[in-house]
Amino acid sequence: MHLDRGAAETDAVDEDIQASLSADHGGYHFGPPAFGRLPNRAELEGFDAELRSHRSLPPGVVESLELLPSDAVPMDALRTAVSALALYDPDAGDDSRDANLRKATRLLARLATAVAALHRLSQGLEVVAPDPGLNHAANFLYMLRGERPEEFEARVLEVTLILYMEHEFNASTFTARVIASTLADLYGAVVGAIAALKGPLHGGANEKAMDVILEIGVPERAEAWVEESLRQKKRVMGFGHRIYKTADSRVEVAKKWGALLGKQLDDTRLSDICITVEEVMRREKNLCPNVDFYAAPIYHMMEIPIALNTPIFAMSRVVGWSAHIIEQIDNNRLFRPNSRYVGATDLEFQPLDRRG
Ligand code: ACO
Repeated sequence: MHLDRGAAETDAVDEDIQASLSADHGGYHFGPPAFGRLPNRAELEGFDAELRSHRSLPPGVVESLELLPSDAVPMDALRTAVSALALYDPDAGDDSRDANLRKATRLLARLATAVAALHRLSQGLEVVAPDPGLNHAANFLYMLRGERPEEFEARVLEVTLILYMEHEFNASTFTARVIASTLADLYGAVVGAIAALKGPLHGGANEKAMDVILEIGVPERAEAWVEESLRQKKRVMGFGHRIYKTADSRVEVAKKWGALLGKQLDDTRLSDICITVEEVMRREKNLCPNVDFYAAPIYHMMEIPIALNTPIFAMSRVVGWSAHIIEQIDNNRLFRPNSRYVGATDLEFQPLDRRG
């Protein structure tokens, strides 16, 4: 695939990413961020070099992954991979802040390798070693396919990774913080977060959303398809959000990059379907699309298997999870909500042999 992009178009999109990242997401109040400022150039280059140096999976982890069934659900396999990575981390057992930052860096570097390796093993292919000459997104596509991607394609993937990277108290991040609040380790908290992300009401929606778009197939069918689904009281995956009720600020960015990719590939069919579905969902239910609805077709245009959509979400969101885990531990108090019982209060204890 050969891709090229106009500088003016993508500069405008870069500004949109900034706007999306700095948007007021309202509601929750966090403690101070880990460092309180963006890295300077030397720090950024140092961090990038560190990531590149940590990408390889320990041989014992690769051997464990080779034993997994080839038809394992990728999110289940990824959860297992993180459990295995924990056992080989040189900082295992050290839960200091510095050790957690090192563990988070290794996990970020290695999760992308694990997603690519798991996919290749499931296909009976050799695992591709990371290329330290490539950036994070380009290297992922390289490890997945065994071929270096076009620069623009890697940039589009990178944009989706930025959009997915952090999103305050979503279900998986909250899961991670609850686990961290027991002073369990960072890896355990990320394993729990991956389990939460898999669900179709959360991260799993980016796989289900693609099923919807493919089922519709052509833009002309979109309106009737949505109307019929709503008539049958079905949920249209990739729409609605617990917090965003008018718009998900990430959508416009994903939509623009998806349209650019479609234009470069000379096939705007998926973008056209999405736009019609969005119009009908707003008109009929006043529901807005979430980022999954526009990220999913981007991955599909890159010929990435649908079952990897949520693992890719995870390999990005591990940044947010790790930051939240470290922030939680910095100022920890155990999460322990009360529950209010609303059932019968006049029940008498029945010994087992009298229970019928
Ligand atoms: N399709 C059709 N109708 C919907 C949808 C949808 N995707 N989402 C909500 N509704 C309807 C509900 O049926 C309900 O209608 P009613 O009042 O007529 O009964 C109303 O909107 C409110 O629904 P709730 O479930 O109460 O909304 P809530 O805010 O609790 O749910 C959720 C949010 C879970 C995300 C929901 O919108 C949904 O199931 N969406 C599809 C799954 C999805 O895309 N998840 C990704 C979330 S974003 C992320 O994780 C990156």
